[in-house]
Amino acid sequence: MTVVWEPAHSASASLRSSHEGTDCLPKTGAPATFGQLLRAHRRRQGLSLTQLAARVHFNRGHLSRIENDRRSPSVSFAEACDRALSTGNNFTAIASALEAAARHQQGWLQPAQLPAAKHNFVGRRDHFAHLDGLLQCHEQSLAVPVAVVNGPPGVGKTALAVQWAHRAVSDGHFADGQLFVDLQGPEPGTAAAPSHILADLIRAVGVPADRIPADLDQRAATFRSCLHGREVLLVLDNAADAQQIHPLLPGSRGCAVVVTSRSRLPGLMSLVDTVTLPVTELRRPEAAALIRAVIGDARADADPAAVAALAEHCGHLPLALALAAERIVSRQHPSADLLATELRSECARLDLAEGGVRLRTAFDTSYRTLDEQSARVFRLLGRLPGRLIDAGITAAIAGVGEDEAARLLRGLAGVHLIRRHDDRHYHLPELLRAYAADLARQFDGESEHTEATHQAADPVAVLNPPAPPSLVASIA
Ligand SMILES: Nc1ncnc2c1ncn2[C@@H]1O[C@H](COP(=O)(O)OP(=O)(O)O)[C@@H](O)[C@H]1O
Ligand SMILES: [Mg+2]
Repeated sequence: MTVVWEPAHSASASLRSSHEGTDCLPKTGAPATFGQLLRAHRRRQGLSLTQLAARVHFNRGHLSRIENDRRSPSVSFAEACDRALSTGNNFTAIASALEAAARHQQGWLQPAQLPAAKHNFVGRRDHFAHLDGLLQCHEQSLAVPVAVVNGPPGVGKTALAVQWAHRAVSDGHFADGQLFVDLQGPEPGTAAAPSHILADLIRAVGVPADRIPADLDQRAATFRSCLHGREVLLVLDNAADAQQIHPLLPGSRGCAVVVTSRSRLPGLMSLVDTVTLPVTELRRPEAAALIRAVIGDARADADPAAVAALAEHCGHLPLALALAAERIVSRQHPSADLLATELRSECARLDLAEGGVRLRTAFDTSYRTLDEQSARVFRLLGRLPGRLIDAGITAAIAGVGEDEAARLLRGLAGVHLIRRHDDRHYHLPELLRAYAADLARQFDGESEHTEATHQAADPVAVLNPPAPPSLVASIA
């Protein structure tokens, strides 16, 4: 079968078919639509709607809407039809042409706002696979997939979201565009207002400024209308909370959203279906690979042991690793060995900085979101090196009841300043522990230190089971 695409006048696909077996097509001589061709092929092969739906992994309702020209076919749907009906790439070619025509409809300015991908990106294969899987599931669903990438400051949330987005685009997804917004969370007072963000987003897809409504709900509705029927990726970077994100979410299938946040975004799941992808520090070989990628093979090969030591001192945290590696490249420390020696000091690690990027500042922005009580507990926890923490020990060092301690620990884990170990226990990743201890030295002085450690002495011994070897290795 060959199908000639003619520019569509309406939403339905307009096709002329020169077909060896046109017996199933309406014999009007009129151009056949995508839907009519699909129905003809399905019937010729003796398949019911339900049977074809099962073969293409789209639901029966979707198939029926496309056969009746009440919905435009996506390219991925057309590919599935070609596979199921053995029609070469005929349906795919038609759907691609229809999409291209729709894309060039007046007024749509195809956004391509992703920041550049990284040449030196390492690891995160599991996360990529998860996100890819989300896209595939979504092709069979009416919902807009929303993935929330969360983790502590500097762990590589933005880098991961951007890198995956570029991969997805180069694989042919999101052909109508990619939007990227820095939501400027999580510090109180700095988060961007949804209404302003929506105005930017609506402008970015080609709506003139004088046609953007003033009201938040109307802006949200306009944005959803703009995205309807399009395949657009929305990356919402650095989200403050669920309320900030909710008005920005597209409403119709074809789009997908990746949110990054230091918070677990409580309440978001009750508003929309989301998949959460926690991000933690890199694995040991990946951490060394990141340093090697930046400093180059020659420097890394000159002293692999120093590179490994550097990776450990940086707690495998990408931001610290990137800053340390840059220091070597900029020749402030001409060798990995010299820098590794300096970074034996915890203070020197926290002082890692290049240009305007400082490790300590990244931690500060999370710490400043804490209320006074949580901030105090976080500082005190910094004085328990290598310990698993539970509500009992926290109650003892902070002088609060166990229920209150448990609540405070949940809050700290919620913003990724401590990490959940199991149902009862938490720990601090090494750099965050050093940061908390440093704050305690500055703000709480020795008296609270001595008192807290004294109070903690017994409960630590009684309540904390020995950490499993892997954890001891990572936090000791
Ligand atoms: N997987 C990775 N490979 C290489 N560099 C990375 C990786 N993850 C993060 N980085 C680098 O580490 C730094 C911090 O990453 P970023 O994504 O900004 O962290 P976050 O968004 O979690 O605060 C950036 O310089 C980034 O390019
Ligand atoms: Mg970020």
